[in-house]
Amino acid sequence: MTRVASRQSLAPQVGHEARTPRPDAHSSDVDTVIVLDFGAQYAQLIARRVRESKVRSLILPYDTPFNELLGLRPKGLILSGGPASVYESGAPRCDPRIFSGHVPALGICYGMQLMAHELGGRTSAAGQREYGRTRLFVDDRADLFAGLEARLMCWMSHGDSVVAPPEGFAVLARTDHNPVAAMANRRLQQFGVQFHPEVTHTPWGTQVLQNFLYNVCGCRPQWTMASFIETQVAAIRHTVGAGRAICALSGGVDSAAAAALAHRAIGDQLTCIFVDHGLLRQGEPEQVIQTFRDSFQMPLAHVDARDRFLGRLAGIVEPEEKRRAIGEEFIAVFNEEARKLGRVEFLVQGTLYPDVIESGTRTAARIKTHHNVGGLPAQMQFRLIEPFRELFKDEVREVARHLDLPDEMVWRHPFPGPGLAIRVLGEVSADRLTLARSADAIVVDELRTAGLMRKVWQAFAVLLPVNSVGVMGDARTYGHTVVVRVVTSEDGMTADWARLPDELLERLANRITREVPGITRVAYDITSKPPATIEWE
Ligand code: XMP
Repeated sequence: MTRVASRQSLAPQVGHEARTPRPDAHSSDVDTVIVLDFGAQYAQLIARRVRESKVRSLILPYDTPFNELLGLRPKGLILSGGPASVYESGAPRCDPRIFSGHVPALGICYGMQLMAHELGGRTSAAGQREYGRTRLFVDDRADLFAGLEARLMCWMSHGDSVVAPPEGFAVLARTDHNPVAAMANRRLQQFGVQFHPEVTHTPWGTQVLQNFLYNVCGCRPQWTMASFIETQVAAIRHTVGAGRAICALSGGVDSAAAAALAHRAIGDQLTCIFVDHGLLRQGEPEQVIQTFRDSFQMPLAHVDARDRFLGRLAGIVEPEEKRRAIGEEFIAVFNEEARKLGRVEFLVQGTLYPDVIESGTRTAARIKTHHNVGGLPAQMQFRLIEPFRELFKDEVREVARHLDLPDEMVWRHPFPGPGLAIRVLGEVSADRLTLARSADAIVVDELRTAGLMRKVWQAFAVLLPVNSVGVMGDARTYGHTVVVRVVTSEDGMTADWARLPDELLERLANRITREVPGITRVAYDITSKPPATIEWE
């Protein structure tokens, strides 16, 4: 945790106070549903299911002022679950006007309990808790359960439950232990479900959400990646006006897609800055330059800072010190380049939803400080433009595909800000970087040939500060050791080592020892995360 939280990044950072208004607020032509987050593990999943139903979704904290919510003109509200009990002191409560019928609302789990509590129903912690697969008996299939069977299997995860619905509410469904598993007040358009329709373990749950979105809220299924891009382009144009913006390109898909989107909006008012610190993978600098300068014809400042970074890293072996040195150097180079461009007011970043949520919000605990969600040095007075703050990585990959970024870039694996410096254990030198980069290129090449690049989360080589004895052509060798690390993961928070075919592992060892002079031993990392992390430093 400490290690992760103290990560230094390569990208410049700014504080939340400098953030531009959310672009979505400027366009209301696409129907929007707001997910109010009560500290749920699944809030982002709810928002995602709404988007998959082609309706725009925004996640906002539970205590967002009522007028602010109305100002966004939502067609519906979904109240998420959460770990609290409505009777606890300090339990999260939203403005009670939310339940007054101004806007249709669907409460899920805690959201339903709060709805019941606020409208005069009774919830209790004394009933039987339900976790996991649970039988559901549906007695009313008029709207929320339209088109579904009367007997279903749902996914439950609750301690408290509603024992008596508020006046004016009908019970729609029950379970063996829970007399109010779903309820509705049709006059007020208030609905509640105790189960979780957003999880895959409730396979028909999307139908319930869509019944709410289309039939209750009257949402039109208009949100598509193409409409998202259109909306964001309009919002960026509106925000930047006649001003100037910059974007730091790292070579990864998030910043690349953010740059391509911003360029579509403001053309040459955007300048991309690509700092080549000499710590990238094989062929990466050339590809970034080729894509952005030559194919997209975007103004691109290419800064060759390889010597500068190598000089700064000389003699450093401690991982955190490496990260700090690289982060500081990056900010210094970036500042110098930004100053050369004259007056720049906006900084475009490819921040994703997991970056935001893991860095901590008012309702979610901090997991780690992501480089792009921290604070910029005070002298950098940029306003942030972050079009992907609500999206997940695979959604950004879809945006990138729509913007015609090359496949190679769209499907690029995550790569740490400090680059190969944290995959060359011990001192970083030009020679050792070459060894790591060459071995890494073979790993990528073999995984690609085997058709596995899109199936694994990351695949790379790590150079150890360890020599070992070998024998080549009857002679003794004493050479470097490389570890191959290939992991599967959903989000990088947990990971498992990839069970690669023996023949592939064999080819990796053969090629690396044959093609990279000086490497005499190859090991395969079979540790999951936890207890290890994905990277070695
Ligand atoms: P770990 O090593 O903690 O990494 O399991 C989880 C994911 O984060 C990436 N990573 C970083 N990304 N700056 C980044 O932007 C960093 O300093 C950094 N360190 C690790 C790592 O590659 C993996 O995908």
